[in-house]
Amino acid sequence: MPKVKNGAVYYVKEPTGHIVPGEHVKYVEEEIDLENVPLGGGVLLKTLFLSSDPYLIYRMRDPSIPMFCPPILIGDVVDNAGVGRVLRSDDPNFEEGDLVYAYLEFREYHVYPGKISHMFKFPLTKIERLPNLPLSVYVGTLGMPGTTAYQGLKGFAGTALQPKEVNGKTVQPTLFVSGGAGPVGTFVIEYARQINPCVKIIASAGSAKKVDIMRSCGADVVFNYKEERTFDVLRREGPIDIYWDNVAGPVLDDALLNFNRDGLIIACGAISQASGADSAVRHFEEIFQRNLSVKGFIVYTGETAHLCGGFHAEAVPLALAGKITSREHRYAGLREAPRALADLHHGANTGKAVVVVHDE
Ligand SMILES: NC(=O)c1ccc[n+]([C@@H]2O[C@H](COP(=O)([O-])OP(=O)(O)OC[C@H]3O[C@@H](n4cnc5c(N)ncnc54)[C@H](OP(=O)(O)O)[C@@H]3O)[C@@H](O)[C@H]2O)c1
Repeated sequence: MPKVKNGAVYYVKEPTGHIVPGEHVKYVEEEIDLENVPLGGGVLLKTLFLSSDPYLIYRMRDPSIPMFCPPILIGDVVDNAGVGRVLRSDDPNFEEGDLVYAYLEFREYHVYPGKISHMFKFPLTKIERLPNLPLSVYVGTLGMPGTTAYQGLKGFAGTALQPKEVNGKTVQPTLFVSGGAGPVGTFVIEYARQINPCVKIIASAGSAKKVDIMRSCGADVVFNYKEERTFDVLRREGPIDIYWDNVAGPVLDDALLNFNRDGLIIACGAISQASGADSAVRHFEEIFQRNLSVKGFIVYTGETAHLCGGFHAEAVPLALAGKITSREHRYAGLREAPRALADLHHGANTGKAVVVVHDE
């Protein structure tokens, strides 16, 4: 069989601010002989879907800087969560046609395991098609982003989300979610409702369409932080008891000034700072003055990591019942992957950013 085109996305230059497609990450066309490429005990995969996630910018750094995730080295192919189909197998656990989830190289086809450096180097895992859900749900709502929301909310906020008795009255907590329209944010909104249907949820994101999404997920108060000041909304609708922080920066500062005593901050992400912006927190003193707790975490790790094992058992039925919903921003073809990596940091994705390498 003749060789076939095998597109790949390489990391070629460290970004000093935003990721620029073609400058920092580059699509290159190579070839592969699908029939004869040696498998070395592994499997040959056809890549179907690849995930673009905000944290990948942290991997594009000076490799001497220690961080929670390993660096990608200049000249290496980008790797991240993905879904593929087995074309050939040397591994007795897999056969042609199996659908699998793993951390994959950003290539149209590749032999697994290849040169993947990621800390979440899960074993190749067989997956099943779920009714009415695309296979790409395994990199979004039922993948790492959904697990993040589940682990953080269940692990840290299970008690804080419950109503309290104050002077003989039942008082419902107020939760604020920033970055509320992405795969982490929408899961947080919908799962918080599952934990306590009466919790008041305030959610923010950066476009009218995203505001509609957060509303449809059941948030009580939704706003576009680019058009309305977060401080004003929280002053009007708060004070807040729990802040799920996906963005940090000025939004975190506004939240700090609008907390009830004994509140909880779940520090999940800091995307406003990820492309090099000044990360100073101006109102840090509110943490001791209001007796706040801050729980930061990296998915699959730390004191709540044990919860991840129960994620699918709880989340799949919720997703099948439409109680946890998902939406995707699809990029057609691996050639579009550099744009998918960059877009997250400009808010240009509406929904989970998924690169469709080969359609199902
Ligand atoms: N702790 C963990 O283990 C873990 C795991 C997964 C994800 N995370 C974090 O969770 C957060 C959400 O992830 P996701 O996958 O659901 O991403 P996402 O919402 O699909 O995409 C990121 C969104 O962040 C927003 N954003 C970009 N720059 C911003 C800025 N300067 N200020 C405010 N918002 C900005 C954009 O939406 P707008 O239009 O609203 O600006 C963008 O669409 C990220 O911070 C990510 O790093 C953490």
